[in-house]
Amino acid sequence: MEEYNLEECARKIRTKWVGRNIHFFEEIDSTNLQAQREAAAGAGNGTLLIADKQTAGRGRRGREWDSPAGNNVYFTLLLRPDFASDKASMVTLVMAYAVWQGIGKSLPAGAFIEKLNSKNGIKWPNDIVVQGRKVCGILTEMSLSAQKIDYVAIGVGINVGKQQFASQLQDRAISLEEVCGEKISRSQLVANIMEAFEQYYEQFQIIQDLSFLTTQYNACLVNKDKEISVLDPKGEYQGVAKGINQNGELLVELADGSVEQVYAGEVSVRGIYGYV
Ligand code: BTN
Repeated sequence: MEEYNLEECARKIRTKWVGRNIHFFEEIDSTNLQAQREAAAGAGNGTLLIADKQTAGRGRRGREWDSPAGNNVYFTLLLRPDFASDKASMVTLVMAYAVWQGIGKSLPAGAFIEKLNSKNGIKWPNDIVVQGRKVCGILTEMSLSAQKIDYVAIGVGINVGKQQFASQLQDRAISLEEVCGEKISRSQLVANIMEAFEQYYEQFQIIQDLSFLTTQYNACLVNKDKEISVLDPKGEYQGVAKGINQNGELLVELADGSVEQVYAGEVSVRGIYGYV
């Protein structure tokens, strides 16, 4: 039986400052809610909240994130950045790329990561997809104080162990162990993600845009050159996804040849024939 606890996570995370201060919960309502509470109590930059089970896991667009014990990774990383609030959505893309790299490092050699294609990679802005199904979701929440960022909480949920998904998710969700057929250490997976995130986030802090990552991110983008529907609250429209720009916006070519720059926020996209 895998050890998944504070000691194991702390032992494996070899970063300078990201995830050095860890709080581990056997059960909690939501690590994002806990991040909110701990931020209010003064928790510092890089604090990592990990849970084995969430009773009120939250997803994007007000959805629930089913979070049973024993199988998955649920964590929230608390950041206290000093950049302008309009840059915060890019941090989610940095995390998505770090998760993708962390997953690749955690799987046995020869597993799917080497076979980057339209079914394996990042679905803009921040879902991780394997075999065309979602394996990870990211929910970033931010709090402002006098127009400045008080904190950014990046919540990550990853399906790791084999499990029965709720019926409405069965053809859209998959777990890492289902893909590679071997046990995966959750603590090592978290550690690999923290190490990757620290490396990319430090670059982001200096450059304050994604120009250092666009080529790599776009190489993993499952929507690239695909026809997609943009689910904009102001109205849905279709186009071809061309990749992200240095601000993390998705460039979408419309039928008349013009190019829309789609800002993540409340917008999401899906393939015109399905989820990807
Ligand atoms: C999505 O809808 O795709 C985002 C899902 C984010 C789930 C994670 S699990 C850890 C953290 N705590 C939460 O309540 N949500 C995020």
